[in-house]
Amino acid sequence: MAMALLPIKIYPDPVLTVKAGPLSDFGPKSQTLFDDMIETMYVEDGVGLAAPQVGISKRILIASPSMKRGQEYVMINPEIHASSGQEIGPEGCLSFPGISAEVVRAKEIRLHYQDRQGKHHDVQLKDFFARVVQHEMDHLNGILLIDRVSFDKRQELIAQLQQNIQNR
Ligand code: CO
Repeated sequence: MAMALLPIKIYPDPVLTVKAGPLSDFGPKSQTLFDDMIETMYVEDGVGLAAPQVGISKRILIASPSMKRGQEYVMINPEIHASSGQEIGPEGCLSFPGISAEVVRAKEIRLHYQDRQGKHHDVQLKDFFARVVQHEMDHLNGILLIDRVSFDKRQELIAQLQQNIQNR
């Protein structure tokens, strides 16, 4: 089956700041979307991708903390039920090409999600995997990397992004 690459929405595309709605359809159309999102994430060298980043305002995220094909997670309607610890670390985002920022995240989270078949899971995630999921979950709530830094840093990152886009 041929997979399609989906165009990534770049800041300030308005779809990136909308709260996404729950997904209830696990049929063929959604399965194709999951596959296309996975393919797009790997081709773009991402460790995660959220549906709003491809213009679809649904609560779907892909995470591949190992960056190895076949080891990715498709997480639908994810919810964080508990979190603990705090850690600062660098993050990039496919919607902010060439940008990196230090962001504070919980070190460990307890996550509920549905897999691509709709089956429910409760898992404990930590460190980098927990960070990736928290970043992608922010996308589902219309929250971006630049919303997680100071006002001054935000202005600096937006200016840098504009320059990166011009130089592409
Ligand atoms: Co992102």
